[in-house]
Amino acid sequence: MKKLNFPKSFLWGGATSAAQIEGAWNIDGKSLTLPEIQPFIELKDKSDLSKLHNERNIIFKNALEGKFEGHYPKRFGIDFYHRYKEDIALFKEAGMNIFRMSISWARIFPNAFDEKPNLNGLKFYRDVFEECKKNNMEIMVTMSHFDYPFELMKSNPKGWLDPKVKELFLKYAKTILDEYADIVKYWLPFNEINIGAFAVEAGLGIMPDSKRTEAETKELSIKGLHNLFVAQAEIVKYAKKFKNIKLGCMMADMTTYSLDCNPVNVLANMKREQILKFMFYDVMIKGKYPGYFKNIVKTLTNKEITFDENELKLLKENPLEFISFSYYMSNTVSTDPNQEKTQGNLTAAGKNPFLKATDWGWQIDPIGLRYVLNQLWDRYEVPLFISENGIGVLETLNEENAVNDDYRIDYLSKHIEQIDLALKDGVDVFGYTMWTPIDLVSASTCEMAKRYGLIFVDYDDYHNGTGNRYPKKSFNWFKEFIKTKEI
Ligand code: BG6
Repeated sequence: MKKLNFPKSFLWGGATSAAQIEGAWNIDGKSLTLPEIQPFIELKDKSDLSKLHNERNIIFKNALEGKFEGHYPKRFGIDFYHRYKEDIALFKEAGMNIFRMSISWARIFPNAFDEKPNLNGLKFYRDVFEECKKNNMEIMVTMSHFDYPFELMKSNPKGWLDPKVKELFLKYAKTILDEYADIVKYWLPFNEINIGAFAVEAGLGIMPDSKRTEAETKELSIKGLHNLFVAQAEIVKYAKKFKNIKLGCMMADMTTYSLDCNPVNVLANMKREQILKFMFYDVMIKGKYPGYFKNIVKTLTNKEITFDENELKLLKENPLEFISFSYYMSNTVSTDPNQEKTQGNLTAAGKNPFLKATDWGWQIDPIGLRYVLNQLWDRYEVPLFISENGIGVLETLNEENAVNDDYRIDYLSKHIEQIDLALKDGVDVFGYTMWTPIDLVSASTCEMAKRYGLIFVDYDDYHNGTGNRYPKKSFNWFKEFIKTKEI
């Protein structure tokens, strides 16, 4: 056993999102969100998501015509809406002192243009937060976790390119800040902003169009992303009136290495990091677009795109206070078009011969977490928070109603060990919320079968089951770890 040296103030907990846990999609006034129009599609090869991507346009088309066929897992989640007290009690029992969750915009403003917020929605989240506090847990809230309201897409087909959408989002953000700033300390405006902005339909709420070219799509992403940045800065500005809260950014940290020491690959990796990581952090933390941004835009869109001077000033004056990021895997970069690939976060990415991968092709790399923590601390010098990290596995209950998930214990303990080493390196990292404390519906594949939790939930991909919760072996391991800090 090895004793780790985490500071007493370190936050330990779990992360979730509304569309993946709540269910109750049409209860108490809530309306549909984009993840709730995504039907379940069986995957033969779990590391090949092309089938899901190919069906995307048909799914949107059907939903817009009001045709809903099949099973929609995110409408049901794990019924957290009705079982949250039981779940929070289990998180507490595991020793967690922070819970990251998201608020569903469509529960607060169901018809997008409502003048007043939905009181049932406001009450639900207040009740959940009070339950967390009763159990001595801090709360981290994501304002928008990939769950853009469907009504808004229908009424405003340009999504985040439409100034009205930004205005409505700011109204929602200000409403929940006013409501909960007394009880919620940590706020993240947008989940994985670097993924959201590049999924123009699901992330930016832009109406699908099969005729759109690759360059046109990228142009929409860049303009939409800028609007997300500006909205985020406006939220930071507004939140200055609350003294006890902290706002952070949330990124999917796309960790990559050059496949080898061939300089062309090293350079290709550097360029990839600029596009997928650093240009985002630079805007959100340093408050300015990096020098290479213009060139990236030109390469992606064949155009020059300029932004309003007042908006650039707003970004400069209102950076986020801390960085949070999800970390699941790392990949490699090479200029060789035949480079061996594996599944990455959404798209295929380069294999690493030194790493093993999950059934979904995500390569497991604990040392990469220490690398990223150092990299981000060196570049930005603001406190860091790991807001997601975990492993998705096919699992079933054994005769003792448990799951012997030694692989999860191995995954979590090895990543936690690297955080400890990063702290020793001198990195300021103040918390960790694993993905996830409890099984939930997968964001990318809508499967229940891709289980991440310390707690097993008895639902299958079609929501058959009792919904009962069963702690896995990793639950007991985590509980012990929190007491002893030994791995
Ligand atoms: C992150 C998301 O990208 O990865 C989560 O913020 C998501 O919502 C998690 O669930 C794991 O991805 P997936 O697709 O396995 O659920």
